[in-house]
Amino acid sequence: MGRIIAVSGGKGGVGKTTTVANLGLALRKLGKDVTLVDTNLTTPSLSLHLGIPLYPVTLHDVLRGDAYLTEAMYIHQSGMRIVPASLSLEDLEGTDAKRVSKALQDATADTDIVLLDCAAGLGNETIAALKAADDLLIVTNPDLPSVTDALKTKKLAEELGVKTLGVVLNRVDAKKKHAQLSEREVKEMLETPILARVPEDVGVQEAIHKKSPVVNHRPSAPSSREFVRLAASLTGEQYTNGHSGFFEKFKTWMMGFS
Ligand SMILES: Nc1ncnc2c1ncn2[C@@H]1O[C@H](COP(=O)(O)OP(=O)(O)O)[C@@H](O)[C@H]1O
Ligand SMILES: [Mg+2]
Repeated sequence: MGRIIAVSGGKGGVGKTTTVANLGLALRKLGKDVTLVDTNLTTPSLSLHLGIPLYPVTLHDVLRGDAYLTEAMYIHQSGMRIVPASLSLEDLEGTDAKRVSKALQDATADTDIVLLDCAAGLGNETIAALKAADDLLIVTNPDLPSVTDALKTKKLAEELGVKTLGVVLNRVDAKKKHAQLSEREVKEMLETPILARVPEDVGVQEAIHKKSPVVNHRPSAPSSREFVRLAASLTGEQYTNGHSGFFEKFKTWMMGFS
């Protein structure tokens, strides 16, 4: 039985979907069976990040009771399983987010880690995803509005009995040092360890434009290295930043399907 990790943070646009796609790929490389689920039912985008936007059966069909979860599960070229959400507005009708927990009850059967890409805000979709999760991975940017929303997410998770693993601090920009919160400030506000500091990296935006996550599109980019390091720390693998054997092996593996 695998763990279900909700990747959430309250605020929109902080990098939750980016984290799910890249962390998923990095975990896969570490030999983990990974399943990514788009629980953002109103404004999904995980399939866009992965370059496969159109799926015949989605999580929406499962939530309506029209399909089994296995029918909405697809294998990415990396070997990850993906459960996409529908991009069609019509599919919102008759979709009840409260059924997410039940729909995902069999998701951990053949997988080590399930990552849930959460919607922005703390509405029904996020609550449903948290209720289905064992752990919470917070994604935030180093600014006060983002960290305030992240704190609310952490408190909500606590109320629901979900353990917070830590924080992915995304879009850290050394050039904006005086316009951003420091890592220490974020850690103190959230009272949670910072597990990764992903830098502001145009490679992330280029990768989304190319419809392939940055760890795949540019394995040597600073952001890619941090996502790989995060995957290693979540699974207890050895990873030394730089040109470790681990990183070189990772790059070779990525070349295999890019
Ligand atoms: N580390 C980064 N460096 C530069 N741009 C980033 C980074 N992370 C995310 N972005 C940008 O922010 C946008 C929103 O990211 P996304 O993962 O979709 O956020 P969320 O899922 O939290 O709404 C992306 O389309 C990308 O342009
Ligand atoms: Mg998103």
